[in-house]
Amino acid sequence: MPVRSCASSSRLLVRRLAELGRVSDEAGRLTRTFLSPAMRRANALVGGWMREAGLAVRVDATGNLIGRLEANCRAGSPNPARIDPLGGGVRRPRPTKTLLLGSHLDTVRDAGKFDGALGVLLPIVALGELRRRGVALPFAVEVLGFSEEEGVRFSGAYLGSKGYAGELRTADLKLCNARGVSVREVLEEFAKTKFTPPRAAHRSRDLLGYVETHIEQGPVLEKRKLAVGVVSAIAGQTRGRLTFRGQAGHAGTTPMALRRDALAGAAEFVLLAEALARGCEPLVATVGAVAVAPGAPNVIPGEVVLSLDVRHPRDGSRRAALQLLLVGAKKIARVRRLAVAWQPTQDNGAVACSPQLTALLEQSVRAVQRRSLSLVSGAGHDAVVLSALTPVAMLFVRCRDGLSHHPDEFAASADLDVALQVIVDFLRRLAQASPS
Ligand code: GLV
Ligand code: MN
Ligand code: MN
Repeated sequence: MPVRSCASSSRLLVRRLAELGRVSDEAGRLTRTFLSPAMRRANALVGGWMREAGLAVRVDATGNLIGRLEANCRAGSPNPARIDPLGGGVRRPRPTKTLLLGSHLDTVRDAGKFDGALGVLLPIVALGELRRRGVALPFAVEVLGFSEEEGVRFSGAYLGSKGYAGELRTADLKLCNARGVSVREVLEEFAKTKFTPPRAAHRSRDLLGYVETHIEQGPVLEKRKLAVGVVSAIAGQTRGRLTFRGQAGHAGTTPMALRRDALAGAAEFVLLAEALARGCEPLVATVGAVAVAPGAPNVIPGEVVLSLDVRHPRDGSRRAALQLLLVGAKKIARVRRLAVAWQPTQDNGAVACSPQLTALLEQSVRAVQRRSLSLVSGAGHDAVVLSALTPVAMLFVRCRDGLSHHPDEFAASADLDVALQVIVDFLRRLAQASPS
């Protein structure tokens, strides 16, 4: 199957990434968190682009943006879900399977503009490209902009995809942010009604799979001089909060030997986590947020809450590392006469990508850039949660210096063009492989 250039569509993609990258909750830097005002503006902007492409758009109870194109319908022409060829009533579309494409629209604090956004905007542009070529797909497509993947507002991630996949649990709803506001309260404020955890948006048997395009967020593709690669598996991830409690007191009058300084204990733990992970590659362990109370220069820290994020491609190794870290935390606390408590907020096992979808994606990658490369993702992705509902596959796009979760995050237009060609080619291959 000849691969055609998508030059004008990839220019549109670049322009839209830049425009969405300006939709922020904070002046001067990009931050969009779960159900925030900027997330509402992002849904409106991206929803407009979806409508322009002929998709039927809705926002679900968890704040996810969903654009749907029925089967055998060219994006941009009337959606057969809404028209009646005989001029009376609403025609029900023939039941067909649905392919899910997407990623998340939320960001970390002071983010780059590609993480998540690329995987939402690229499929919209890809459907537009197919329309221009007069290609209709024999399956329905849903483009998904998940409302929460990063776990910034509440330390547990994937609230958006969990809502869509019917995987939101009571424990997720009880998670509280730093001000003690729960996920449930925020959802009820968003919907202005009582929140009941939704059922999955689809039955598994009605789905073809979920395909997510994402920047690599690491250096491998750059090192191998490849624009794109295909993900074989996503590493498992544990997150939680570790609280050290000591005794606040006067910084000028309390002798050093009598102190129970929670921050000194927490600092020791940070170094322990670093040393353990350094010695156990490919284990990674990160303390990314620290809250010190009462937080004054002349008061001994009485309480410190640390975030801990532990990842490994093998679940057994991740669990073993976590146990070692928690034993280490207890030891530090004992020696320093502190109390310590662990509150897990997220626990996801490693996820293997679908061999069938991945093989098809690899064919497309080879058709576009001749060589394909298989990578394991150390980053978490919405595909982790979607894998409970349907087979998943992921396309990675090279990013400069492997840098992500940083405002300098960058993917070259030429690489985005390759990714777009791959996804367009993949959709055509999947169409050929699907009964019409
Ligand atoms: C999401 O970007 C994660 O891997 O933390
Ligand atoms: Mn992401
Ligand atoms: Mn991210």
